Amino acid sequence: MDVNKKAFLSALGLGAGLGAFAFYLARKEAYNYQIDFLSIDKTRSSQEILPTDLDRRRSLKILHISDLHLAGNEEKKKLSFLDYMTSQEFDLIFLTGDIFEHDEAVKYAPYLIARPPRLGAFAVLGNHDYYRYNMTNKILGRIYKPLRHPEDHARDVAPLVEALEHVGYRVLRDEVAHFKSESLSILGVDFPTVEENKLDELMQEIPVGHLSLALLHMPVELQKYVSRGVDAVFGGHTHGGQVRLPGVGALITDSELARKHASGLFKRDDTYFHISQGLGSDPKTNFRVFCPPNATVLEIDYEAVYSTTEFGRLKEKATAGQ
Ligand SMILES: [Fe+2]
Repeated sequence: MDVNKKAFLSALGLGAGLGAFAFYLARKEAYNYQIDFLSIDKTRSSQEILPTDLDRRRSLKILHISDLHLAGNEEKKKLSFLDYMTSQEFDLIFLTGDIFEHDEAVKYAPYLIARPPRLGAFAVLGNHDYYRYNMTNKILGRIYKPLRHPEDHARDVAPLVEALEHVGYRVLRDEVAHFKSESLSILGVDFPTVEENKLDELMQEIPVGHLSLALLHMPVELQKYVSRGVDAVFGGHTHGGQVRLPGVGALITDSELARKHASGLFKRDDTYFHISQGLGSDPKTNFRVFCPPNATVLEIDYEAVYSTTEFGRLKEKATAGQ
């Protein structure tokens, strides 16, 4: 063998070795679960609030998880992380889609709510809940849209919703849940997004002064939540980019988000957005680089605002309890 050929083969071997090692690290990072702690201050100026001796300060401790992509094979580390996280004390758990990658994974639903949160657990569905993807959909579908979500790959989501509701989640599909005593409303947007008219209808259901939180899977058309004054929006889908390079950020966000907002907390006007980095991905492409899977604990401080009737009822209740 001549010297050039030998050098070429050595370089090829070294390249293949480095590639395999990088892939090994990227696969390993996909199971390196992290927890983020964040806070949001939505306390308002008190001028419009009824004068009262009733304490209006409220604080919600929320667990935000997303993009679990639970497959049929047993994923012990992910399940035990989910079990640990959801066994902590929370006011709310938000799960923002891409929950069950495979139909048989519904058996893992109990791991998603080990301890029922004080006010409840809420979920919205994602694109991987609605569709089965193959590599053609994933790669060519980004160039030629009809291949992205072919109708013959659509899934029946009824068993997925049933499994979540059976363990205590409420799945919001263009619906709003209200907690009058907390002055809180939670709006859930079904995949892919909500029509403007429908969003107006849902917003009209929210009493004036309620803290409004919205859940969605795919971060698209975000300005419509800003223009309607939603207090905070929780989303997923991006996986934080999955591959992030130092100084560059996420290579792709698969949404309207800029690279620096592929995950984490940011604000537009008075609306906060929290985009989860997610806890999994499609098993066919489950690797991460500088972008570990994570769950987020968020605390939101705000002041409850009541209608006169609700205020009277609560004050009566507080006096009776003295
Ligand atoms: Fe996802």
